Amino acid sequence: MCGIVGYVGNNNAKDVIIDGLKRLEYRGYDSAGIAVIRDGKLQVRKHVGGIENLEALIGTDKLESHIGIGHTRWATHGAPSDVNAHPHTDQSGEIAIVHNGIIENYQELRQELIENYGVSFRSETDTEVIAQLIGVIYKEKKDLLDAVYGALEKMRGAYAIAAIAADEPDKIVAVRKDAPLIAGLGKGSNFIASDIPALLKYVKEIYLIENNEVVLVTADAVKIFDEQRNEVKRDVFHVTWDADAAEKEGYEHFMLKEIYEQPKGLADTLGRRLSPEGKIDLEGIALRKEEIEKLSKIYIVACGTAYHAGLVGKYVIEKLVKIPVEVDVASEFRYREPLIDENTLFVAISQSGETLDTLAALREAKAKGARVLSVVNVVGSSVARESDDVFYTWAGPEIAVASTKAYTTQLMCMYMLALYMGLEKGTIDRAYYDRFIADLKAVPDKLTEFLKDTEHIERLACRLYNKEQVFFIGRGLDAAVSYEGSLKLKEISYINSFAIAAGELKHGTIALMEPGTLVIALACQDFLYEKMVSNVQEIKARGAYVLAVAKEGNEAVGEQSDEIIYIPKIRDEIAPLLSVVPLQLFAYFVARERGCNIDKPKNLAKSVTVE
Ligand code: AGP
Repeated sequence: MCGIVGYVGNNNAKDVIIDGLKRLEYRGYDSAGIAVIRDGKLQVRKHVGGIENLEALIGTDKLESHIGIGHTRWATHGAPSDVNAHPHTDQSGEIAIVHNGIIENYQELRQELIENYGVSFRSETDTEVIAQLIGVIYKEKKDLLDAVYGALEKMRGAYAIAAIAADEPDKIVAVRKDAPLIAGLGKGSNFIASDIPALLKYVKEIYLIENNEVVLVTADAVKIFDEQRNEVKRDVFHVTWDADAAEKEGYEHFMLKEIYEQPKGLADTLGRRLSPEGKIDLEGIALRKEEIEKLSKIYIVACGTAYHAGLVGKYVIEKLVKIPVEVDVASEFRYREPLIDENTLFVAISQSGETLDTLAALREAKAKGARVLSVVNVVGSSVARESDDVFYTWAGPEIAVASTKAYTTQLMCMYMLALYMGLEKGTIDRAYYDRFIADLKAVPDKLTEFLKDTEHIERLACRLYNKEQVFFIGRGLDAAVSYEGSLKLKEISYINSFAIAAGELKHGTIALMEPGTLVIALACQDFLYEKMVSNVQEIKARGAYVLAVAKEGNEAVGEQSDEIIYIPKIRDEIAPLLSVVPLQLFAYFVARERGCNIDKPKNLAKSVTVE
């Protein structure tokens, strides 16, 4: 999604802002721009394409200034172009703004500005409407904070906005409504941004801005106001990441780094919730025995990879807690009048915590009386803030658009939730619980061992990278992991990949099997292993090329396949924590062989904050 960086302080604003925008590049964008105030005048530079195009446009001009705002845009209203890039200014050239989100009533406001103020618009964007609206109000109020509050009364939608005014070169006014915004607290300088990595190089102390709050940023202070302009006191949030954690640390791509960070993410996510006695401690999550016993239904709602984690969650929660679980993609859930009451638990899974579809589904469930528990990786994100309880994954910042360590740590949270609820409810005994936890604790080391030798996977990817179509098949939890493996491959290599429950093949899809068709077959569920061997025989009989993934020692499926990747032995229920990793690596190596932009795939963004 779009990135916002604002700065006011004793350094040259242009340098700080460009550097911050570069640290937000992973969010996916198609144009970039900056506005500073120099000698009482706005200086705006913006260009379609990457930040390097913006830097080339700026050239050797230092744009000396101590205040500015910058933006990387992921187009929603209006194609990627110079004129549609942010910042946008009002017609007087007094006001510049940058914006993330969507103004739902922008057409109506645009018409009103044209008719009542004679405004002539240069761009197709909803953002320019905000700039022009603030501009006409500013003309009358001559105060940026007043003008922004005035504009907010008229705007509807989701937005994070930062604004500067040429006549007030010491302040940035910013607003948050349903799009992430933080303020960075420096010494003699302060920041505004849409995400933590933009500021990590400069500050570790931030304010998390809440919905409908307005922020006044000067070099010496950051003040937060509510909708009624009452000043709000906010605790300082201390960022535990360091700048390196958001950098590649020697890996070629963030995605590869994050694949290799999975053992640590899993150990941290589990470890932070294990008491010294080896019990899962959901401290801060109010899910007591009596509440669990009253639950009649659990929804797990998410998008993309997070949805795939929910499929695994369904399996383990139903198995261990004996409560029906319905998993749905958020974009569907919110429009199908879901059956919810006070005995419903709604679990939202979201790495970014900003996915608008998931946020909207959560609000729908909450409005209908469900208790909301979210599994989120970004502390203080919108989903986290709007949930009754939050179960944080401790994956660390996930920069690559393709989610890997967030997925496996989300699975870890699903296992812990199922174990906790099962023991509270009495549907599992303490011995089962302890054995399961012991098996979970062994996963990070098993995964570390597996990651020591991935050359076999790399060689396979280099041989198979030019396939135009790839199928993923599995049964039970292997089917859930197949969907995730397929998404990984398609979103970074652009290969048309397709996942299907292996038992479904004979109901139509097997018609697509041709000699040489690549099929990746997961056979990591012991109780379904024989069935998977037969499925492999079926597709081999039609000439398919089969790459199997199985537990060490299970040679039969390997004998039937063309290639096999073994994962360490592990109990069926938690096999997804390991079996997904060869699929992540296969996708990575194939995409690298195809020369794709692995960390920032075309058309994708790290957090989809639009519908
Ligand atoms: C996963 O690799 C994709 N980047 C995408 O499907 C992602 O999982 C989805 O957009 C949900 O994002 P979230 O977890 O931040 O809500």
